[in-house]
Order: sequence, then structure tokens, then C-alpha cells
Amino acid sequence: MASPTFLLGCALLFLVSSCASAAIVEETFHVANLTIERLCIQKTIVAINGSYPGPVLRVREGDSVILHVVNDSPYDLTIHWHGLIQFRNSWADGPDYVTQCPIKPGNTYIYRFNVTSQEGTLWWHAHISYLRATVHGAIIIRPRKGRTYPFPKPDKEVPIIFGEWWYSNVEDIVNEGQAYGVPPNLSDAFTINGQPGDLYNCSANSMYKLQVKQGKTYLLRLVNAVMQSILFFKMANHSFTVVAVDASYVNPYTTDIITITPGQTMDVLLKADQPIGSYYMRTKVYQGSDLIAFSRQNSTAVIEYIGSKSTTPIMPILPDHSANDTAHRFFTNLTGLTTAPFWHPVPQQVDERLLITLGLGLLPCEGQGNTSCLGPNGQRIAASMNNRSFEPSKELSILEAYYYNVSDIYTTDFPIEPPVKFDYSNESNTFNFALLPTVRSHGVRQIKYNSTVEIIFQNTAFGSVENHPMHLHGHDFHVIALGYGNYNPATARFNLVNPQLQNTVAVPIGGWTVIRFRANNPGVWFIHCHLEVHVPWGLATAFIVENGPTPETSLIAPPQDLPKC
Ligand SMILES: *[C@@H]1O[C@H](CO)[C@@H](O)[C@H](O)[C@H]1NC(C)=O
Ligand SMILES: *[C@@H]1O[C@H](CO)[C@@H](O)[C@H](O)[C@H]1NC(C)=O
Ligand SMILES: *[C@@H]1O[C@H](CO)[C@@H](O)[C@H](O)[C@H]1NC(C)=O
Ligand SMILES: *[C@@H]1O[C@H](CO)[C@@H](O)[C@H](O)[C@H]1NC(C)=O
Ligand SMILES: *[C@@H]1O[C@H](CO)[C@@H](O)[C@H](O)[C@H]1NC(C)=O
Ligand SMILES: *[C@@H]1O[C@H](CO)[C@@H](O)[C@H](O)[C@H]1NC(C)=O
Ligand SMILES: *[C@@H]1O[C@H](CO)[C@@H](O)[C@H](O)[C@H]1NC(C)=O
Ligand SMILES: *[C@@H]1O[C@H](CO)[C@@H](O)[C@H](O)[C@H]1NC(C)=O
Ligand SMILES: *[C@@H]1O[C@H](CO)[C@@H](O)[C@H](O)[C@H]1NC(C)=O
Ligand SMILES: *[C@@H]1O[C@H](CO)[C@@H](O)[C@H](O)[C@H]1NC(C)=O
Ligand SMILES: *[C@@H]1O[C@H](CO)[C@@H](O)[C@H](O)[C@H]1NC(C)=O
Ligand SMILES: *[C@@H]1O[C@H](CO)[C@@H](O)[C@H](O)[C@H]1NC(C)=O
Repeated sequence: MASPTFLLGCALLFLVSSCASAAIVEETFHVANLTIERLCIQKTIVAINGSYPGPVLRVREGDSVILHVVNDSPYDLTIHWHGLIQFRNSWADGPDYVTQCPIKPGNTYIYRFNVTSQEGTLWWHAHISYLRATVHGAIIIRPRKGRTYPFPKPDKEVPIIFGEWWYSNVEDIVNEGQAYGVPPNLSDAFTINGQPGDLYNCSANSMYKLQVKQGKTYLLRLVNAVMQSILFFKMANHSFTVVAVDASYVNPYTTDIITITPGQTMDVLLKADQPIGSYYMRTKVYQGSDLIAFSRQNSTAVIEYIGSKSTTPIMPILPDHSANDTAHRFFTNLTGLTTAPFWHPVPQQVDERLLITLGLGLLPCEGQGNTSCLGPNGQRIAASMNNRSFEPSKELSILEAYYYNVSDIYTTDFPIEPPVKFDYSNESNTFNFALLPTVRSHGVRQIKYNSTVEIIFQNTAFGSVENHPMHLHGHDFHVIALGYGNYNPATARFNLVNPQLQNTVAVPIGGWTVIRFRANNPGVWFIHCHLEVHVPWGLATAFIVENGPTPETSLIAPPQDLPKC
């Protein structure tokens, strides 16, 4: 576990209190095969330190982290510290071929980063291929010593990690889909803290159980690590108070149901205020449209009051899997806590505005009866942003190409608006084969240091209307507006006062979302859909944020052990 040693050179820091608390947290993540059994079947997965989910990284705000990632797995690997700002430090961010070449089997890379101006729950995960299915864990950032939470201190803190499980090797799953140009097989189960729960075969004895004491308050640190699905999460007869999303505090919001997208994290307070007994917690996929196949599932866990004699927990009643209204109410009811430390106001004026369409598409194929083209129309399923289906070069990372000025690795022609205007969200376009074709691209967007950026994400109906959880690396953004249909600036209602700060936002099914951020973190930052298969399909691009005027506003130099391609 973590062994904090106090930072040398503390006396140089101007704040004595912060000095006293800043520590160096040095850890080793040993990545290797692990044989475990779920649903009566033994299987080999890739895991860190023999655990699924992996170990929790516990730090305080202000700490420096030195993380040795030893790759003894059979696969190329990278780790992303999801939601950490990584100020001036893209080198430690992790997405494969965007900020680094993968760590080859048998090799080690040391991720060095500082955890600054962020508190709450984040998570780490593999950022290459499908490995994050089993290579993930929570990051818990507590306030530095001497500082407290902006809510009453909970009696206990508990990570709750939602995952997804396949009988087969997940690398075989994604490779098979890619080989034929079709969606990969759906998962076989969902998990809560690594366990499917007792509605699945052979899983009753290992179900996750949280013992609670009546009257106490628990801080649940929720992480949605599933690959493909937004989830509803509910607990029988209890409500939650959401206090943070993506490690940014929100105004306390009390609700009996949570909606959480892949990539997102939430801190929620749970008061054990019900009669002594036993209650299920349960997740359900939120999938607004039936055109997209999804895993039906029943993952459960239990909260059990100390002293409970009940043997059959009470089951919560969840809404229908397509309950748009439940998801919408949850997302629109959250507001940022402007009095919290690290809150920063919404940029009121915009230097750079992008309108970006998101959705599925098709890549053309060569050859009659080509078996790699089993998608609709004999083509390959893909996805795109502004009709560019992103595929990084595997010769060098974009970050290295940018830093060392190497050409032909990326282009800077990512369009600031859709190249073709059409009725974006209209479901009559779902199978419009004139618009569905897309093109592979290395295109990114380069932006001036400290400029204010507004992005309007507009979902299309191609293939189906769908929620796309968009994740930006290196920055938190304000979610200032969202709605259904096509974005219309005349009728959109903006919150420029206290919108939520997030790093991942679910763009409403058949709808749009407007975000703003200040591009004050120099480096290369991936932006992509967090539905995992949409990344190899191309629903991604990157921002290159230029250096500022001083060394303190410029990208730091690369670490010596940065893996080579
Ligand atoms: C992981 O395992 C390594 C040894 O393989 C050990 O040194 C390290 O402390 C472990 N880390 C955690 C977070 O458990
Ligand atoms: C790890 O598991 C994979 C897939 O199950 C297998 O191909 C590989 O041989 C295993 N490697 C080791 C070192 O056990
Ligand atoms: C982390 O902070 C320390 C102290 O301010 C600084 O010396 C170091 O360069 C920072 N490291 C990174 C990776 O930004
Ligand atoms: C995917 O599902 C099909 C149909 O059930 C099955 O034949 C195939 O083996 C599965 N692929 C993998 C990698 O498990
Ligand atoms: C559970 O086991 C039963 C009996 O063996 C089988 O019919 C059923 O398909 C299994 N269900 C799942 C979800 O695996
Ligand atoms: C989930 O559980 C319900 C009963 O609670 C059952 O009717 C349904 O078939 C289960 N679904 C699956 C996929 O096992
Ligand atoms: C507890 O929840 C169940 C449904 O999940 C409901 O039937 C029951 O009335 C609830 N009990 C109380 C005391 O609210
Ligand atoms: C939550 O949203 C619903 C509509 O989506 C609205 O009626 C309600 O007032 C909101 N509540 C809060 C606390 O914002
Ligand atoms: C099948 O299509 C893929 C993708 O366009 C192409 O790379 C491959 O060469 C084609 N194969 C044949 C036999 O034409
Ligand atoms: C995307 O580009 C392809 C190739 O130029 C074109 O055929 C298609 O109509 C475009 N679709 C959209 C929505 O722009
Ligand atoms: C970035 O812009 C803000 C707002 O205009 C300004 O306050 C700040 O000083 C700028 N930062 C730098 C390093 O230029
Ligand atoms: C959810 O919203 C989408 C997009 O507007 C729509 O296609 C779907 O029918 C809605 N589902 C329900 C149950 O209202």
C-alpha cells in the first residue's frame, strides 16, 4: 500500500500548511494474467496485483505520485488516470498513440504526476484496446491535511465500482468485431465491485455485501467502469445525496436514483436511516433506443444492517431501460458548488466555438464478398466526429510528433463544424446511405494557450440515436446547456452561473450538449466517446493546446523512460 514520504524542499513552498501535507506516494502496479472464476467458468484476465477491480490509489490533494507500471501481461498496455488534470504533463496521461507508445510486455514505465486542485473520486484504467474491462480501479483524492469536505464528515467511505464481464477473453471479443467490421459480442454479465450478484448463476455466495450500522452515513465513491452502457443505480428504500461528480463538488442533490455514464465518477452520501434489515442495490442499463443491441442484466449487491435477521433483501424497483425522463432529470438537476475550493467560473466569452456531430458511420470496403466487411451494405461499421473517423498513426504518438516536430503523424485539419449540414438528429436519416459513409483521419485541432473553447456536441441518428459519453482529457469543462433534437442557439437555455464541472458528459440521445473550458493546460489531449468500441471505430480526436508565454505555462520535458513505438 501507499507509503507516503514527506516532500523535500518543503521550506521553499509559501504555504506552510500545504507544505506539511504534501507527500510523495510511490506505488507499483504489477500487470499480469490472473485466472479467476465468475458465473461457474474459470477464465484468464489481465489484472493488476491479482485483483479485479484493481487496487485503489489513495492520495491527498497536493501529493506527488510515482507509479511503476510493470507489464507482465501478454499485451501492449497503457494506463490513463481518468480525470486527473495532469497540468503540463501529457506524458503521464496514457491514451495509446496519442500521448505515448504502449508499454510492451516485459517492460516498465513510471507514471509521475501531481494531484493538484482536485478532490473526490476519479479512477485509473488501461487506455488501449479492450483491456480496461478488467484493468481498472478507483482513485480517491482526499482534501489535504487541515482541510475538510464541504459536507458533513461521513462515518465511512466505500468505493462501488460497476463493471462488465465476458466469458471470453476481451481482446478476442474486440478483435473479432474489428476483423469482420461488425459490433463485438455483448457482455455476459455486469458486476458491482467485481461480483455479478445473486440473480446470476453461481454468484450468490460471492455477492458484494456492505454492512452498515443504523444511523451512520456512508460516502459511496461510485465509478462506472462498464464498457458500453449508461447505468441506472438504485437501492431499495434509500435515497442518495450526490455531493461530487468527476471530482468536482456539486450542490447536494438528493435523489432515489443515480444515472452514471461510462467514465463518470460520483461521490454520494448514503444514510442508513431505514429499519434494520437487508436491502438490494441494483443497476440497470439505460438505453433509450431499441435499435442498438445491449446486454440485459441484473447485477446486484446488498446493504445489510448490523443486527439484520432478514434473509431476503428488499428489491428496488427500477425504471424501464429506455426511461429518458429519469436520465434527463438526473443530469439537469445537478449544479456546481461555486463556494467549493477549486471551483472556477464559466468563461463568459468564447474565443473558439466548435459544432461537432457525433455518431456511427460506415467505412467503404474493397473486394467482392470481403469477409472483413460484414456490416450494413457490405461495409464496415465505424464512428466519427464531424465525419472524421479517427485513427492514430502507430509509428509515433501525437504528443512526441508535436514535441519533436515530426511530420506525417497527424494533421491539424479537424473541422470546426460538420462538413455537410443536414437534419442531424432526425431518425429518418438512420439508414441514409448517402450520409453514412465516413473517412479515416489523423486530424486533430490545435488551439492557442488560454483561449476559451465552446463545444456543441450534436448527436446524429446514424445507425440509431444513442447517448455518447464524451470525455475530454486534461481539463474539466462546464456543462452549460443540453437538450433534445438539433441544437438551436436561439432557444437553448444556458447556465453560465453554476453549471457542473465534469470530465465526461452523456450527450442526450438524439440531442446535444454545450460545454465550455479554458485551454490552459499545454499538451495533447484526447477527446473521445467513452463507449469503448467507439474508440477503435473512430469517435475521437485530440486537442493540441499550445504552450503559453512562459516556462510555467509550457509542456514539461518528456520522461527518459517514455516507451518507444
Ligand atoms: C502490487 O504488487 C507489488 C509486487 O508485485 C507490490 O510491490 C506493490 O506494493 C503492490 N501494490 C499495491 C497497490 O498493492
Ligand atoms: C496469459 O493469458 C493469455 C490469454 O488467456 C495467454 O494467451 C497467455 O499465454 C498467458 N500468458 C502467460 C504468461 O501466462
Ligand atoms: C510536481 O510538483 C513538483 C513540486 O512542485 C515539481 O517539482 C514537479 O516538476 C511536478 N511534477 C510534474 C510531473 O508536473
Ligand atoms: C461471439 O458470439 C458468437 C455467437 O454466439 C460465437 O460464435 C463467438 O465465438 C463469440 N466470440 C467470442 C470471441 O467469444
Ligand atoms: C443458469 O443456469 C440454468 C440451469 O443450468 C440455465 O438454464 C440458465 O441459462 C443459466 N442462466 C444464465 C444467465 O447463465
Ligand atoms: C433479471 O431478473 C428478473 C427477475 O428479477 C428476471 O425476470 C429476468 O429474466 C432476469 N434477466 C436476466 C437477463 O437474467
Ligand atoms: C421499500 O421498497 C419496496 C419496493 O422496493 C416497497 O414495496 C416498500 O413499500 C418500501 N418500504 C417502505 C417502508 O418504503
Ligand atoms: C429536477 O428536474 C426536474 C425536471 O427535469 C424539475 O422539475 C425539478 O424542479 C428539478 N429539481 C431540482 C432540485 O433542480
Ligand atoms: C477487404 O476490405 C478491407 C478494408 O477496406 C481491405 O483492407 C482489404 O484489403 C479487403 N480485402 C480484400 C480481399 O479485398
Ligand atoms: C462524409 O464524407 C463522405 C465521404 O466524403 C460522404 O460520402 C458522406 O456523405 C459524408 N457524410 C456526412 C454526414 O458528412
Ligand atoms: C488566462 O486568461 C485569464 C482571463 O483572461 C487571465 O486572467 C490569465 O492571466 C491568463 N493566464 C495567462 C497565463 O496568460
Ligand atoms: C428516448 O429518446 C429517443 C430520442 O429522442 C427516442 O428515440 C426514444 O423513443 C425515447 N424513448 C422513450 C421511451 O421515450
